[in-house]
Amino acid sequence: MGLIMKIAESMSRLGTETAFEVLARARALEGEGRSIIHLEIGEPDFDTPANIRDAAKKALDDGHTHYGPSAGIPALREAIATEIGRSRGIEVSPAQVVVVPGGKPIIFFSLLACVNPGEEVIYPNPGFPIYESVINWIGAKAVPLPMREANSFGIDVSELETLISPRTSFLILNSPANPTGAVATGEQLARIAELAIEHDFIVLADEIYSRIIYGGEHLSLLTFPGMAERLILLDGFSKIYAMTGWRLGYGVMPEKLAFWVGRLMTNSNSCTASFTQIAGIEALTGPQDEVRAMVAEFERRRDFIVSGLNKIDGFSCLQPEGAFYVFPNITALGRTSKELEIYFLEECGVAMLTGTSFGALGEGYIRLSYANSVENITEALHRIKDGVARL
Ligand SMILES: Cc1ncc(COP(=O)(O)O)c(C=O)c1O
Repeated sequence: MGLIMKIAESMSRLGTETAFEVLARARALEGEGRSIIHLEIGEPDFDTPANIRDAAKKALDDGHTHYGPSAGIPALREAIATEIGRSRGIEVSPAQVVVVPGGKPIIFFSLLACVNPGEEVIYPNPGFPIYESVINWIGAKAVPLPMREANSFGIDVSELETLISPRTSFLILNSPANPTGAVATGEQLARIAELAIEHDFIVLADEIYSRIIYGGEHLSLLTFPGMAERLILLDGFSKIYAMTGWRLGYGVMPEKLAFWVGRLMTNSNSCTASFTQIAGIEALTGPQDEVRAMVAEFERRRDFIVSGLNKIDGFSCLQPEGAFYVFPNITALGRTSKELEIYFLEECGVAMLTGTSFGALGEGYIRLSYANSVENITEALHRIKDGVARL
């Protein structure tokens, strides 16, 4: 009372992730007794596998309840180095690994550690909203790389070339991508690697959905010549092990940068929770059959939701190759994406996100997460169809 809270000017540049706002509104409607189907938030509807939960319980009982090293417990950094080395087919040292609370801090810390105010950062648009938010917040210039439906939402490397300037210091890539589910091809990655070397910029490869991929192999930019020296790989446990609430992720990067990201951890979180890190070792080294079953189920749901949406007037939906999102074109409905987000939630009881949550180039699209049961998706499709008829 009586205090005037002065907010720093830089806060006006900080964006958000509106999925959390839509989730809060959907929960408020549920609180009023409304039935809502949740297709807004990007998290698996599966439980964390039992072996991982048991490892965390044991870790608590074994006393892993204290501070640990800022960059992560050595045994987890080693398990991550082994897993990334195995899955990407390259040599990775534990000293290149920094464990953080979720994948998100790697976006934040790598931009903070590598980019000066005024430098240009190229990022996918539509893309994960935190990229644009943090680029703006640190005072860099956000340069959107359009991910166009006409190009199956893939990276247009010729267009990327036209966006590179002498001030470009950093590029963000995300494959498989949120919100489109698009997967980068080997030719695209090879050309991006050449461009990064030629124009001397750093790349953040956000590979948080690397194992949620259908009918193909994940290709990592890290495996291309010259990339290990200039690439930060973001991955984590949230999506693939259904561990969103545990807050456990990591970056793999050159050792020189790992030192500074570790120091940012000391300055912010001190360390990632110790017992969740012990559970992370079990996740990586324990049985992987639940992961495979989950991905197979996502593929079944993808086929189901894509064909269902394409049967609704005004919807046109490409078949994504990875992640657990669809990004249908809804321009034929003659409403803005935001109007439809509100309409489908308030009038039809289906929570989804306007494409513009992912940047200005998301206008004309909405994002639905199919991390929900086929039964719920079926009901959501009915509600959407009825809603469209009433528009
Ligand atoms: C592309 C992308 N990167 C990073 C993250 C952050 O993941 P985490 O919950 O582990 O911080 C997400 C989460 O939705 C995402 O979609």
